[in-house]
Amino acid sequence: MKKSYIWPLINRVSHVLLILFLVVSYFSGSYKRFLDYHVAFGYAMFVLFLFRFVWGFVGPKYSKFKDFDFKAKDLVSYMSSVFVKTKEYIGHNPASSYAIVVMMILSFLITISGALELGVEKNHGFLSFLHVSYFSYMEPISKVHLWLVYLLIAVVFAHITGSLIDKFIKKSDAIDSMICGYKQISKKIDIKLSLFQKTFGVTWILVSLFALFYIFYAKNNMLVKSANIKQNYALQNPDFAQECGDCHMVYPPFLLPKKSWTVMMKNLDNHFGEDASLDKATNLSILSYLKANSAQNSKQESAFKILKSLKDDNSVVIAVTKTPYWEKIHKKIDSNIFKSKRVKSKADCKACHKNIENGLIEDNLIKIPSLKG
Ligand code: HEC
Ligand code: HEC
Repeated sequence: MKKSYIWPLINRVSHVLLILFLVVSYFSGSYKRFLDYHVAFGYAMFVLFLFRFVWGFVGPKYSKFKDFDFKAKDLVSYMSSVFVKTKEYIGHNPASSYAIVVMMILSFLITISGALELGVEKNHGFLSFLHVSYFSYMEPISKVHLWLVYLLIAVVFAHITGSLIDKFIKKSDAIDSMICGYKQISKKIDIKLSLFQKTFGVTWILVSLFALFYIFYAKNNMLVKSANIKQNYALQNPDFAQECGDCHMVYPPFLLPKKSWTVMMKNLDNHFGEDASLDKATNLSILSYLKANSAQNSKQESAFKILKSLKDDNSVVIAVTKTPYWEKIHKKIDSNIFKSKRVKSKADCKACHKNIENGLIEDNLIKIPSLKG
């Protein structure tokens, strides 16, 4: 057996970055408030895969797709021989060959569906122009994105399982070679990179790191830029802004359906235990403004989801904080936070949602104040 150099540094570094970016984008994806991390790491992962794809044509031997083993016969014999050593694979074995290509395709589809979700659901990014016409498709698009992610995770786990079987049962040094670059094979063959390949490798890493930091820090870049606009309620309906902003922040009208506003405005003399009654004309003017801008007439993600969560509810909910969507989305927050000095109550949206009093509910502007201090 000869110790041969098979995987250049760039393959190993990009492999580690890929794992890191996948882990961060996966976990940040389940928290709305980490949207910035999710999008930056997700796009950066896509960039890594894109370079890997091109590397499949311009890279050195064994990194090229034409050196992958896609023969169905080899795949079957490889997969069916857990306990016996199969023929020697210098580059990628058939299972890894397929896994790499499938992961590449999935990451491409995940990026497209993610960009689409960002545009359609949140009105962010270069696809935000689709928001107005297609916002009602936000849930199916989000499901497609999620299922593609599950599929990718399944392939990743199969790939990891295969590598562990390789190492611990078949006693191959494939995993070690992805760390140190060397494999024990029957003949001595060391790969060498050309100047072009070295430059390409450096560019690969620099561009993906640049993408990561740029998308994260340049908040107005085309991939994440929000097309939502601040509302000036004092200008749109001075009565509403003044009367309904007297005791608490002005709640954006799109957070409740028409029915809720009608019932609330009818019972202002007993408004959460307070007397908030108004003269008839003011009441009517505010009510018609609230109805015109209610959840039914909004395209925002929160309006759409609050409305949907109230669909089967025949009783009338007049607190946003009592809607099933609100309860579900805030369930994981430590209940002590809502009683803390800086938050005071669930209804104090402003404490965690910057700009909510201007009608903006942006995932990346959510911040939970710490309990200390
Ligand atoms: C006299 C003071 C007062 C005025 C005026 C007032 N409110 Fe309130 N409002 C309250 C109190 C107190 C609560 C309960 C807050 C809490 O749960 O912490 C409340 C709660 C609400 C909530 C529910 C918040 C949640 O928990 O989701 C909405 C919506 C609301 N008010 C809308 C209005 C509107 C619309 C107007 C104007 C017509 C108005 N309020 C005027 C005192 C007032
Ligand atoms: C203690 C902090 C806190 C308070 C107070 C709070 N929220 Fe939130 N809210 C959050 C967090 C955190 C999330 C995101 C959870 C996650 O990361 O998945 C969230 C998510 C949301 C979302 C989902 C985002 C979206 O785009 O649909 C809406 C809507 C929302 N909050 C509305 C409100 C409203 C309205 C109030 C006041 C009545 C409120 N929140 C009060 C912390 C808070």
